[in-house]
Amino acid sequence: MRVTVVGSGYVGLVAGACFADLGHDVILVDNDQQKLAALTAGQVPIHETFLPELLERHRGKTLHFSDDLQAAVRQSAAIFIAVGTPPTDQGEADLSYVESVARNISGGINGYKVVVEKSTVPVYTSNWIRKIMLRNAAPSDSFDVASNPEFLREGTAVVDFMYPDRIVVGADNERCASLLHEIYAPLTDGSYYQRNDAIPRPDHASIPPPLIVTSTKSAELIKHASNAFLAMKISFINAVASICESVGADIHQVRHGVGTDSRIGPRFLNPSIGYGGSCFPKDLMAFRAVARECGYEFRLLDEVMRINEDQRQRFLRKVRNALWTLRGKRLGVLGLAFKGGTDDVRESPAILLVQALLQEGCSIAAYDPAATDRAKEIFGTTIDFAADPYEAANAADALLILTEWSEFSSLDLDRLHSRLKYPIVIDGRNLYDPETMAARSFSYYSIGRPLVAPVQAAA
Ligand code: UGA
Repeated sequence: MRVTVVGSGYVGLVAGACFADLGHDVILVDNDQQKLAALTAGQVPIHETFLPELLERHRGKTLHFSDDLQAAVRQSAAIFIAVGTPPTDQGEADLSYVESVARNISGGINGYKVVVEKSTVPVYTSNWIRKIMLRNAAPSDSFDVASNPEFLREGTAVVDFMYPDRIVVGADNERCASLLHEIYAPLTDGSYYQRNDAIPRPDHASIPPPLIVTSTKSAELIKHASNAFLAMKISFINAVASICESVGADIHQVRHGVGTDSRIGPRFLNPSIGYGGSCFPKDLMAFRAVARECGYEFRLLDEVMRINEDQRQRFLRKVRNALWTLRGKRLGVLGLAFKGGTDDVRESPAILLVQALLQEGCSIAAYDPAATDRAKEIFGTTIDFAADPYEAANAADALLILTEWSEFSSLDLDRLHSRLKYPIVIDGRNLYDPETMAARSFSYYSIGRPLVAPVQAAA
């Protein structure tokens, strides 16, 4: 099937490449000429596992890039809208890009089309898209608007797309639903997974995935409710971690005991310096605003956001507790991305913490395996960028672990120890076992677990 994807950001680019890998003919439309030129020339603008392989496989064959939306619409049966929905000052989602795309699509309608929301949008957006298209002279029987929210995580987006827990299709009639069913058929009938060149199956995936058909409004709510629930899980475990710190309990033991209840489940219960990224912070505010608009005060979400911010303040207090005064202190920082496996620094708690520490007069040497270039756009020369974790630790008063990159969990501890001025590690992601750190002569601070001091110092 010929499909158009509008917007070549994280969602659009991954969806476009994955649709091509499912066997569809894809036109990826963007109005950013530089981006289009880079994609056509074979560049991969984001750090995403398997994306370079898929782009390489399909570029110029079944994956084309264009700035002509109406021409793409004329050739396509389905048009996926994956443009940005940034937050306004009031925390609502700014839907002006979605509106302008909808207006533009109207001019290309030349037969039945399904217009699909893939961006995260508030409930009622599909109604608005329909209204805007009708106002712009799209005949009412020539299109339907569907909602097909994406549940992919940055860093594992391609795998999440190909091995989803579920595919949600919000469609208000059978014709529209069956077109989307056809697009996802290689996943739902399992044929994609038989292929030798299929993206490898992750451990937890059960195949084939179910396709859940709902109303468009329900699908829009499913996306916001899912992200809000996941953020709530993180804030919940972080709140419990704070209590663990007060009473001397261990959050990992508590998490294990809680997460093995199959009604709760173990995932998304990692204590941390808080969630960040381009989705949770924005989506929680947007969901809060939508609820208010509909007459419901969703105060639980306020508390989820408050705990998340508090988590950073608590971490700053840990740094002060470890080092006393901060002015003039040299800190090594591991991780600037908002989570491991991505180069994205948007709403990164690591970036916010580094900014706070700079304000307190610290000097920083930071290392991130992928996010350095993006962080340089924020920090310029106000911090030093190290070439590896050991260089970041060099002569530092303490080492801070701020992002859960897997490579940070297997560092050469003796080498690290010899580089640091004082063997102090303050770990915002709980990547190490406190006993091991004590045995290797570190003072080790983490989240929701007792502080451990070097074994020989304690003795
Ligand atoms: C999130 C959702 O997980 C996706 O399902 C959704 O599709 C996506 O938003 C979106 O709306 O587009 P993402 O923002 O890429 O995906 O990242 P997550 O893996 O969810 O992590 C979000 C933040 O929570 C990160 O800062 C991470 O470090 C933090 N986190 C995650 C924790 O602090 N603890 C955990 O247990 C899990």
